[in-house]
Amino acid sequence: MIAVDGSAIFGEVLLNHRVATQVATHVVPRHLSPITDTPIAAAAAHTQGFDFNSFVSNFALTWLPVCFFLLMCVVVWLLWKTVKLMPRVKPMEITPGSSSSVTWDDVAGLDEAKAELQEIVDFLRNPDHFEALGARVPKGILFHGPPGTGKTLAAKAVANESGARFYAQSASAFVEMFAGLGAARIRKLFEEARKNAPSIVFIDELDAVGQARSGSSFNREQDQTLNQLLVELDGFGPRDQVVVMGASNRLQDLDPALLRPGRFDRQIFIQPPDLKGRLAILAVHTRGKPLGDDVDLENVARQTAGLTGAELHNICNEAAIGAGRKNQTQLLMADFDDALERVVAGLQQKRVVTDKEKRILAYHEGGHALLSHLVGNEPQKATIIARGTALGYVLHLPEEERYLETKEELLDWMVMALGGRAAEEIVFGRVTNGAANDLEKVTQIARAMVFEWGMGESVTSRTLRADNYALSEETKRLRDTEQARLTDASYSEALRLLAKHRPALDRVAAALLEKETLSREELVELFVGTEPDSRSSESVGVVRALPADPTG
Ligand SMILES: Nc1ncnc2c1ncn2[C@@H]1O[C@H](COP(=O)(O)OP(=O)(O)OP(=O)(O)O)[C@@H](O)[C@H]1O
Ligand SMILES: [Mg+2]
Repeated sequence: MIAVDGSAIFGEVLLNHRVATQVATHVVPRHLSPITDTPIAAAAAHTQGFDFNSFVSNFALTWLPVCFFLLMCVVVWLLWKTVKLMPRVKPMEITPGSSSSVTWDDVAGLDEAKAELQEIVDFLRNPDHFEALGARVPKGILFHGPPGTGKTLAAKAVANESGARFYAQSASAFVEMFAGLGAARIRKLFEEARKNAPSIVFIDELDAVGQARSGSSFNREQDQTLNQLLVELDGFGPRDQVVVMGASNRLQDLDPALLRPGRFDRQIFIQPPDLKGRLAILAVHTRGKPLGDDVDLENVARQTAGLTGAELHNICNEAAIGAGRKNQTQLLMADFDDALERVVAGLQQKRVVTDKEKRILAYHEGGHALLSHLVGNEPQKATIIARGTALGYVLHLPEEERYLETKEELLDWMVMALGGRAAEEIVFGRVTNGAANDLEKVTQIARAMVFEWGMGESVTSRTLRADNYALSEETKRLRDTEQARLTDASYSEALRLLAKHRPALDRVAAALLEKETLSREELVELFVGTEPDSRSSESVGVVRALPADPTG
């Protein structure tokens, strides 16, 4: 039995209607239009003098081209929009003598790099002389080193000194989502440089395109760009006076093909400046700034070991801004001190700490300061005013530039770093989470001592790196024990020293609670009568007198 409901009936009606329409359409003769085939309609059209057929063809003839034209306009507009999406980057061009040019005098402290670059400057200035001797212009120079050390600056100075045209472009401009655009830009850049030789092409942040090719289809565009760069580097004739310079922070990531002789064959490592370099950089950046009589740039340079040129520039600028804010007419030493702390430790924070926390902080920082004194590394300043992420800190001033450190000095350093935690333990009998940063640093040092520098007790003649999978389980256990032994011994030593000099610790903590910040002079006064325990730095480099050979 079939149940017939309302919707089924309705569906059937609709279906019938459609069938009927289809049948009707089929019945209409092909040569007649559906409307005019009825005698009434034809008669009406005839009596009014209106020819529908010609109207339709007229309409089509007039409007179809217009519609087509409009459609084309829309397509062109869309294309134009897409083209505009592509960033139009032009290489920066520096002509010698322009206001943005940098001279050798603006680049300080890079003596070795400068000597190397001077050769290129001489060549570009006087190419005939060198060519007569059969020399070819050095093709590629690659600066590499940490950020802010003056790589871009040095390249600009070469451009200015050599009198050559300078085309600079960041490699990131070659990285595009449109396939082939990066390669085309490289081609154009080199074409331009060759046309205007002698010239220098400078590609900054080279790692953006120079990364080792992966071969995977994801990086096709980048690989293509790099290939084009390699082709261009090969494409100079012997008389093309085009020097290519590149700068990168990560030499290890660059494609080996870029670094082979004939391409970027000269690699100049630019590292953070030494004391002399820092002084020279400070002198460059205080040029034209009115300095007060008390400003001692050498002192500033001594306090800034490990900082780069960009950071030193920042310190000078911050000092000038600080002086301006205080309505001074000159920059004073206090402005440099403030700027230094701001750059090294971060912005001063207005954190509200409770009195209990303040007491813990005072002992924590007091512990660091006292142990620094006890291991012979006088602190420059101790404070419990928060800066950056630290709630308090002790500032050290390296006495001299050091590249080598002895095992004893590293152990002393660990004792000093654990001073805060040890003071909490001794004074309050419980520890806080405030020592996290100290513990991290101590772990790093201990790890490097055992894993890389052979400074453990039993393993003294080889590395035990974490990525060495050939190490046996037993060796790994030994390695971990050695590392733990170093840190634990340092902590015990810190506890011993602080317990021994408890009165001095109480004095420093009380003074910190009262004044919040203690200068070097104030600290020295508080440490009177506490003689340093370790003098490991004093005997560094002193040749040991050998004991007399009893058999001899
Ligand atoms: N040797 C230096 N002499 C004078 N100023 C320097 C020196 N090194 C760096 N500076 C200052 O630091 C700023 C930044 O330097 P630069 O742009 O050359 O760094 P970079 O090495 O190219 O860094 P990055 O790797 O991040 O590109 C310079 O504008 C300059 O003010
Ligand atoms: Mg740079």
